[in-house]
Amino acid sequence: MSETAQRSTILLTGATGCIGGRLLAALEARGHAVRCMTRRPGTLAGRVGPRTAVVRGDCFDPVSLAAPLAGVDTAYYLVHSMGGPRSHDFESRDREAARNFGEAARSAGARRIIYVGGLGAETGLSRHLRSRHETGEVLRASGVPVVELRSGIVIGAGSLSFELVRALVERLPVMTCPSWVRTPTQPIALSDLIAYLVAALDLPHGESRLFEVGGADAVSYGGIMQEYARQRGLRRWFIPVPLLTPRLSSLWLGLTTPVYARVGRELIDGVRTPTVVRDDAALTAFPIRPLGLRQAIRRALEEEDAAFAARPWSDEALSAATPLRWGGARIRSRLIDSRVVDLPVPAAAAFAPIRRIGGVSGWYYGNWLWRLRGLVDRLIGGVGMKRGRRDPEDLAVGDILDCWRVVDCQPDARLLLAADMKLPGHAWLEFAVTSKSDGTTTIRQTAVFDAAGLWGRIYWHALYPAHVLLFRGMLRSIGQRAMKETY
Ligand SMILES: NC(=O)c1ccc[n+]([C@@H]2O[C@H](COP(=O)([O-])OP(=O)(O)OC[C@H]3O[C@@H](n4cnc5c(N)ncnc54)[C@H](OP(=O)(O)O)[C@@H]3O)[C@@H](O)[C@H]2O)c1
Repeated sequence: MSETAQRSTILLTGATGCIGGRLLAALEARGHAVRCMTRRPGTLAGRVGPRTAVVRGDCFDPVSLAAPLAGVDTAYYLVHSMGGPRSHDFESRDREAARNFGEAARSAGARRIIYVGGLGAETGLSRHLRSRHETGEVLRASGVPVVELRSGIVIGAGSLSFELVRALVERLPVMTCPSWVRTPTQPIALSDLIAYLVAALDLPHGESRLFEVGGADAVSYGGIMQEYARQRGLRRWFIPVPLLTPRLSSLWLGLTTPVYARVGRELIDGVRTPTVVRDDAALTAFPIRPLGLRQAIRRALEEEDAAFAARPWSDEALSAATPLRWGGARIRSRLIDSRVVDLPVPAAAAFAPIRRIGGVSGWYYGNWLWRLRGLVDRLIGGVGMKRGRRDPEDLAVGDILDCWRVVDCQPDARLLLAADMKLPGHAWLEFAVTSKSDGTTTIRQTAVFDAAGLWGRIYWHALYPAHVLLFRGMLRSIGQRAMKETY
């Protein structure tokens, strides 16, 4: 490869993370040659495009950084240590990681590092925000020009700050509101931050630049929670309390949302500091007009739905789920029940009963239970189970199927249904059919429930035995029909 071609290579760190994962897709869509550096190359298997390379590298192992940075023009630095091992010591670890990376980038002749830091004035910062600023300084000290985007909290699925808001609002019907929830902040839509990161590639080379980037609205942390609750249709009571400090709040957080407790404490510690854009140079330097809070949350929820709908459930996708002692597995607010059957029939035969499901064919198992559910739905103002289907054999996207609607239908491969019935959340039912090299076929049947708040979770867990009975029986019956029609 020529030096010029090699030099157009972009190194992306943090591609397994929330911002890096989305940035990777955006860079690939624009045809860039990307090299992803990760400590866990296996995590990116099947998630990168054909032109993207994945290499192992660890910022705490300087020797491992030479190969990822070889021939790189621009390196995105999206690394942080919060939440990882020894994360209590994240400040010194982040300093060390940035120093190693900056030095390796300089030795490799990289022309630019693009780094995402955090908003906040220079003084009175929390440990977390101070460390984010310091990381930018350490990278600049390497001598490689750095474009630092100091970002507001990111509104998008997988972003720690957004997941914290989600965990709190989804779990707690009554929330105490200490004074810190009124601290002003300027959250940014993940899609806008990605647009800034991509546009930063077009800035002239040569000097370090620092931009503050945030969404169109400066709001309070309480305002973010209220808007999230509104869009999810959750009624939440916010009770003002004068005495709850961020420290006490973080202990409370540990009790209510243990998953986010460790990183959440550091983030909550930072909420005393206003994080708003004070210098709006980014609005002049970039052709980007960021969304306000309402649109940012709407987009985050819509993008998440679209991402779930785009790919069939698989072992790989389910490996990201947390198994529950009771009630299947969970990814964020989504509860999942997935089961498979292997059949010695071709994919077309396995899909045939799936294609005919509902309407006069019924749901293949426990039809009286489906009718009872439909009756209850009618009584509470829902659509019920009697809408039938347009055609007994043919299905198309948008078709009505009793209490469901067809979201995706790929012949002999996939049927995805979304529930139209009244529920404390949103429900989907998917059948994914895959042929194996030995000529057999697997049907994976996955029920997903995006539980809205506490009632949503109570509904899922309370009805779980009935759902297991229905879904297990339905899949068994589909298998038996496919076999009977083949042999
Ligand atoms: N999310 C927000 O609200 C927000 C707001 C403002 C700024 N930021 C900043 O944006 C950046 C990315 O955030 P994010 O939310 O995308 O983070 P994230 O989802 O937690 O991902 C962090 C990434 O860091 C990588 N990493 C950690 N230690 C590493 C090491 N020793 N060597 C190489 N890679 C390492 C991990 O890669 P592997 O595990 O694959 O190695 C992972 O992909 C961070 O600098 C963060 O402070 C985020």
